[in-house]
Amino acid sequence: MKATSPSPKDSTPSLPAISRKKPSLSIPAPRPSRTAYTKRPAVICFEDAFHGRTLLTMSLTSKTHPYKAGFEPFASDIYRIPFAYPYRGEKGATAETFAHHLEDAFKRSVAPESVAAVIAEPVLGEGGFVIPPRDYFKLLQNICRKNGILFIADEVQSGFARTGKWFASEHFGIEPDLITMAKSLGGGMPIAAVTGRAEIMDAPGVGALGGTYCGHPLSCAAALAAIETIEKDGLLARSTAVGKHFEQRAHAWQKKWPLVGDVRGLGGMCAMELVRDTQTREPADSETKAIAKYCYQHGLITITAGTFNNVIRILVPLVVTDEQLDEGLDVIEAALASVVEHKQPALTHA
Ligand SMILES: Cc1ncc(COP(=O)(O)O)c(C=O)c1O
Repeated sequence: MKATSPSPKDSTPSLPAISRKKPSLSIPAPRPSRTAYTKRPAVICFEDAFHGRTLLTMSLTSKTHPYKAGFEPFASDIYRIPFAYPYRGEKGATAETFAHHLEDAFKRSVAPESVAAVIAEPVLGEGGFVIPPRDYFKLLQNICRKNGILFIADEVQSGFARTGKWFASEHFGIEPDLITMAKSLGGGMPIAAVTGRAEIMDAPGVGALGGTYCGHPLSCAAALAAIETIEKDGLLARSTAVGKHFEQRAHAWQKKWPLVGDVRGLGGMCAMELVRDTQTREPADSETKAIAKYCYQHGLITITAGTFNNVIRILVPLVVTDEQLDEGLDVIEAALASVVEHKQPALTHA
């Protein structure tokens, strides 16, 4: 079901504006057709990206095991370029250097006039919570605009207060042509949505987008309640505070243990990347697994991430109390100590 745009009188929460935006709500989110609006076939996506498990979204996803292997063949006219990954990119790379990969692709892989859209996660989720330089997406979107290409922000993981703003793309000062969202949108209930410029959303025509569970009333009510709670309970600010607290403690771990190669975060979406050597940045995958196992055995479920399976991501419920947050971080600290020092010390605060 395609929902109508809210009237100005609606008491809709103060979500950031997309000019003449129009939402489409569903379970799962329908991806507006590649060709209905632009009449172009190709999509450019990124290394280390994750976009889902349908044929098209798996084709857009980067990591082979466990996501893609065995599910071939994939959709055609998908082109992949390197993402702005400061910790692993070329030494001294800037937003400009990273954005240049897009222009490069127009020469090496696909003509710009064949490209319908560039799709990116503003902060890589499964790819390891990678945060590009602040100007990166502005540069990318400028290149897109010059070439009549749409810019799609996949905010399924980074959206809805996770980074201290409604959408991570706000941190980068851009207004995507389309935004996909899910996960935190429903506060646990299954719902996904696409919001975009009205002329793009209308391009497929009446009845062209749909599905059995689209516009499910219970999930829609849950999403409205989640949005209200984020506003009422100040969860954007809470997300920022959670992230700051994690980073403070994780930087102390980094000073103590070279295993902690990189500490990064945007609001409450934070991570540490573990390496065997701070110079070579050799991914510490088995150590990461051992840390996750230790945490699990001590009552804390963590999720690892990253193409090289060496990132511990932190994406705690934003209603967490300070005490609960520290209790969880204490377990991670003890896990790090246990793996680095092959002993299991008493839990202490940093
Ligand atoms: C950035 C991103 N996009 C898309 C998806 C897939 O969402 P769904 O399983 O709802 O299709 C995920 C799931 O983890 C995700 O992190």
